[in-house]
Amino acid sequence: MSFYITTPIYYVNAQPHLGHAYTTIATDVLARHMRQRGEDVFFLTGTDEHGEPVADAARAQGLEPRELADGNAERFKSLMPVLNISNDFFIRTSDPQHVLRVQEVLQRVHDNGYVYKGIYEGWYCPRCADFKVENEILEGNLCPIHEIGLTRESEENWFFKLSSFEGRLLELYSDRPDFVMPRHHFNEAHAFIESGLQDVSLSRAHLSWGVPVPWDPTHVFYVWFDALLNYYTALGYARADQDLVERYWPATYHIIGKDILKFHTVYWPALLMAAELHVPEHVFVHGFLLGADGRKMSKSLGNVLDPFEVMDQYGTDALRFYLMRDVPFGSDGAVGMDAVRARYESELANEYGNLASRTIAMIQRYRDGVIPAAATDELLARDFDVLGAEIRAVMDRADPTRALELLWQRIRRLNRYVEERAPWQLARDLEAADQLDQTLASLAEGLRSISVLLHPYMPASTDKLLDALGAPDTEYGRSLFAERGSGAAVKALEPLFPKRAE
Ligand code: ME8
Ligand code: MG
Repeated sequence: MSFYITTPIYYVNAQPHLGHAYTTIATDVLARHMRQRGEDVFFLTGTDEHGEPVADAARAQGLEPRELADGNAERFKSLMPVLNISNDFFIRTSDPQHVLRVQEVLQRVHDNGYVYKGIYEGWYCPRCADFKVENEILEGNLCPIHEIGLTRESEENWFFKLSSFEGRLLELYSDRPDFVMPRHHFNEAHAFIESGLQDVSLSRAHLSWGVPVPWDPTHVFYVWFDALLNYYTALGYARADQDLVERYWPATYHIIGKDILKFHTVYWPALLMAAELHVPEHVFVHGFLLGADGRKMSKSLGNVLDPFEVMDQYGTDALRFYLMRDVPFGSDGAVGMDAVRARYESELANEYGNLASRTIAMIQRYRDGVIPAAATDELLARDFDVLGAEIRAVMDRADPTRALELLWQRIRRLNRYVEERAPWQLARDLEAADQLDQTLASLAEGLRSISVLLHPYMPASTDKLLDALGAPDTEYGRSLFAERGSGAAVKALEPLFPKRAE
């Protein structure tokens, strides 16, 4: 089956930060998991380059918008391999192919009768590029996201008849209770629609950095319509020789942060309906990463977790693991360097890394480096029986945190097994040779099974470990706990998560 998954496209008004890394890593974990399962995956990420957020930032730096966009888009793009992201394409909304397709789709929306000219009067946040409605405005006319003063805007714009989709959107929400996930965000979006929809600006007259409106080139499209359409336009040109629209549309999952919920759960399906395109299957909304003090991360509070510092000290896999492990996906959560260190030491170095080193070292010492082809432990096997199916079920609900918890339960089970069986004692007793064979075969098998399922989270470390176990295959079916040890030769393994100097 086709599985099309996307991240938001990130504004190039600033450089990439932890929040961008977070969404992209989570999306990558889901994409890699589905690829393991043999799904036909397409994974899209990219940059959002038009509109006021970028034009204003460029002006402040004395640059042309395009110069700022080119520089920062390159930063986002080159971050992907650093984070070990497996995206299939990187879209930039300044791509001429994107621009053409945006014009095409919005011309259709116009021709279908959902566009008219009117005067916009109201409050606007230039950082969100968002026209706020009354219940979205904080005391003193502040933006609830950026906490900056909103500006009063009055201009003649083209409007999109969002209000005429109220009924169809409510129908969509009642037909598809998992259209927006998790549930509390479904309820939030649903309540927003029920409270009544107003038409929204589709164009801006006083801005030149954007996609020109084909029927009125003195206007550019309001950046959000240009941006949302990236999910569709990319499929039209990502591969010169293939029609990916046919193959992947509609998207299976749009993964987004809760700051952009309204655009993806209200505007976006309405726009697609207006353009006679299918709406996505799911929009998954995750929470905010907060500073270790539980407050919004900000340079002035000094509570920012720098992803580059985490990678410098602990490596890319540790960053990926930490972000999926420490904050339940879908909720807000505090993150900080102390918590990274604690998880790294207790879970990665001690529980997983140490289990791997010990298992391989014992196979080398007691069995000349060959995993015994003996029957594995039935009781232990039972604890692994349903693991692949459990992980599959929680990943189908886009819950990488729960999946990681299920895997960690098994890692702890294996560590208890080592203590229970005490292979170093069995090794002293010739009569216990069969028991030692079984113990080592079971440990190697458990470690292998877990590492296949952990692969989407920590591709580099699990590849090393699986290679050392002589079983590099990460196809999903290979996660099954086998009835016999593999008989494969193991290879020496450097510590996967070496202890760091304080
Ligand atoms: O909104 N915690 O781009 P953007 C978790 N261009 N995630 C965070 C975060 C945090 N503290 N901060 C940012 C835009 N994010 C538009 C999107 S899509 C058609 C257009 C992540 O650069 C999260 O995914 O402001 C959030 O939704 C996104 O970055 C916003 O990135
Ligand atoms: Mg933002």
